[in-house]
Amino acid sequence: MSNAEKNPKGVQPRRAVLQMPEYHPPLAGRDGLRLDFNENTWAPAPAVAECLRQIDAVGLTKYPEREPVERVVAAHFNLAPTEVLLTNGVDEAIHIVCETFLEPEDEALIAVPTFFMYEVYVAATGARVQHVQADASLQFPVENFLAAIHARTKLICIASPNNPTGAVVAKKDLLRIAQAAPQAVVLIDEAYYHFYGETMMDEIRAQKNIVIARTFSKAYGLAGLRIGLLVADEGLMRHVRKMSSPYNLNAIALECLQVALADPDNYIDWYAQQVRECRTLLEKSLDAIGVRWWPSQANFVLMQIGPLHKEFVQAMRRRGVLVRDRSSDPGCDGNVRITIGPMEHTQQGIAALQESLKEIGWRRPDGN
Ligand SMILES: Cc1ncc(COP(=O)(O)O)c(C=O)c1O
Repeated sequence: MSNAEKNPKGVQPRRAVLQMPEYHPPLAGRDGLRLDFNENTWAPAPAVAECLRQIDAVGLTKYPEREPVERVVAAHFNLAPTEVLLTNGVDEAIHIVCETFLEPEDEALIAVPTFFMYEVYVAATGARVQHVQADASLQFPVENFLAAIHARTKLICIASPNNPTGAVVAKKDLLRIAQAAPQAVVLIDEAYYHFYGETMMDEIRAQKNIVIARTFSKAYGLAGLRIGLLVADEGLMRHVRKMSSPYNLNAIALECLQVALADPDNYIDWYAQQVRECRTLLEKSLDAIGVRWWPSQANFVLMQIGPLHKEFVQAMRRRGVLVRDRSSDPGCDGNVRITIGPMEHTQQGIAALQESLKEIGWRRPDGN
């Protein structure tokens, strides 16, 4: 018998991997003004640029040491080192949390639309994802979500502010959810914290099933370095840490992170303030044009463009401005998301938006 006859399908992955959804973000050809992935559109702090200039190649011969930097991070956030874990972006943080807590017979609960990677990493464990759909307001569906929690719910993922809607969940509602599911880990993704200002970090000791994720990809402008942070009570964190490679953050990321946190220029505050001001400017401009938008506490706004959403995204691209079509997200038909940067970038984005709508013959929903 030939080898092909003995094993006609070739090597097969686990069943869960065969069934996993794939995520291919449209990252190719991103020359232009990047208002499509909610990154910082400007630059990291000048102190980080200086740090990069100082890094010497000989240092790269050494394995990265994460623990001393975790002590610095813990002190920065007024936490114990046992309560933090640095990760290779929030993406890895989600992966680690799923691998730590989910058995194939468990369920994870998410409200949609939301960040897609929860679904991917839950599916990789073989566990089932249960969805709660937001209504047309695209606000977080608190009551329906609470009603969907049951005994097999082992993980709950909530982004607040949420992507792609920008909606937030009030602290009291997050606590209600965590208290209603003592058997579950509640991952609260605060990737967009800096543009909002409310955190659950101070609740981790009282509410021991909460895990907070933060990223350095957004306000800090370090998406290319891949730095994320998990924060939880040390009882939970002991298990989570076991799932992580000790070398998951590279040495350059660890160097730059310390500088970004210690930044004497308060660059983060400047950037977040610019985004807040520009969010208001964008909202006013959309009102003036007659484009419907959803209230956002993040560095982006979701807009209702309608049936011409594809033409709109292409017309923006012709003007050198990238925006993200979210029309295929559940409940988001015709919606496009635009990232907000500092004033110069926002003004450029608004000008391109006005011209693009005109070019494609877009009409206000009321026909005016
Ligand atoms: C809600 C949310 N969480 C996490 C991430 C990814 O963060 P990171 O770059 O740290 O992996 C994103 C990126 O778009 C996001 O929107």
